Amino acid sequence: MKRFGSWLLVLILLVSMLTFTGCTQQAGTTPKDSKLIGVAMPTKSLQRWNQDGDNMKKMLEEAGFEVILEYADNKVEQQVTQVENMITKGCKVIVIASIDGTALKGVLADAAKENIKIIAYDRLILDSPNVDYYATFDNYLVGKIQGDYIVKALGLNSGKGPFNLEVFGGSPDDNNAFFFNKGAMDVLQPYIDNGKLVVNSGQVKMEQVAIQGWKSEGAQARMDNLLTANYADKKIDVVLSPNDSLAQGIVASLRAAGYGSADKPFPVLTGQDCDVTNVKMLIDGEQSMSIFKDTRTLAAQVVEMVAAIMNGTEVPVNDTSTYNNNVKDVPSYLCEPVFADKDNYKKLLIDSGYYTAEQFR
Ligand code: BGC
Repeated sequence: MKRFGSWLLVLILLVSMLTFTGCTQQAGTTPKDSKLIGVAMPTKSLQRWNQDGDNMKKMLEEAGFEVILEYADNKVEQQVTQVENMITKGCKVIVIASIDGTALKGVLADAAKENIKIIAYDRLILDSPNVDYYATFDNYLVGKIQGDYIVKALGLNSGKGPFNLEVFGGSPDDNNAFFFNKGAMDVLQPYIDNGKLVVNSGQVKMEQVAIQGWKSEGAQARMDNLLTANYADKKIDVVLSPNDSLAQGIVASLRAAGYGSADKPFPVLTGQDCDVTNVKMLIDGEQSMSIFKDTRTLAAQVVEMVAAIMNGTEVPVNDTSTYNNNVKDVPSYLCEPVFADKDNYKKLLIDSGYYTAEQFR
């Protein structure tokens, strides 16, 4: 009888354990069943990251996931804390557009312990073995398109010149900044070498031209200095700016120095992101072009990657050798950027539904 009693106890225990696990799984509340995805964006201060974040949240939710979306005010510590919270809350995949590509090693090691997959978004995360995928626009191509645009706009390939050029670079803690610079300089360097492009400041290396934090004010201050030191008695004809926030600062400086008149036209000026402010500058002839990286395309790509990870199917990538993060080649999906200028912006940006015409009135 005693024996029968203990068997019964074991049986009851077993049944209740099974029932308990079954119930909780059905309710979908265990971390095991979580459909939670973390999205960590660097800042709200630039228009593009707001669009990236909004698009991703919307598309992930449409695909049936729950989303924690955070912006880190360009503060590295804040981003680390946000990712830590995403780990604690049971996210299965975390998508991160990093502020400083080298600062996430520790928190990614914590994520790996929980078997959380990490997708680096737009900017590669460096020095960590725990970056599983990278989704971006082809950053080298961004720079190349800017360089090609300058060559065409100035007629350099038909022998025109010499023209006065100054070069700006993006934030030195952002891996992308080096790809943009390399893509553009591979195109422009031969014209510097043959004297058709003259850099009066002599500053072309990234350590001389980089603007910390992609700050407009930083670019404005450097442009002020360049104009005072080198262009008191000559005009600047072309400025390589890797993105729109820098282009805004450069134009502010040029305006203050009297550019924009018939005898002192604005130089050819590149950019990237097609921020509303900069599209207005294209229309007004203050900026020549901006790279258009349709954030809807990138967000959709990331949603596909997340879904594949969550379903255990093959994650779509199209490049496995370009982006080494100092530890490994990170499997990547590269989307293709294009450029917008005053001739094609309506078709590209308005007819496609990215912006409305009212935004530019
Ligand atoms: C992005 C650019 C952006 C820049 C500043 C880069 O990593 O690729 O699109 O303009 O950061 O936020």
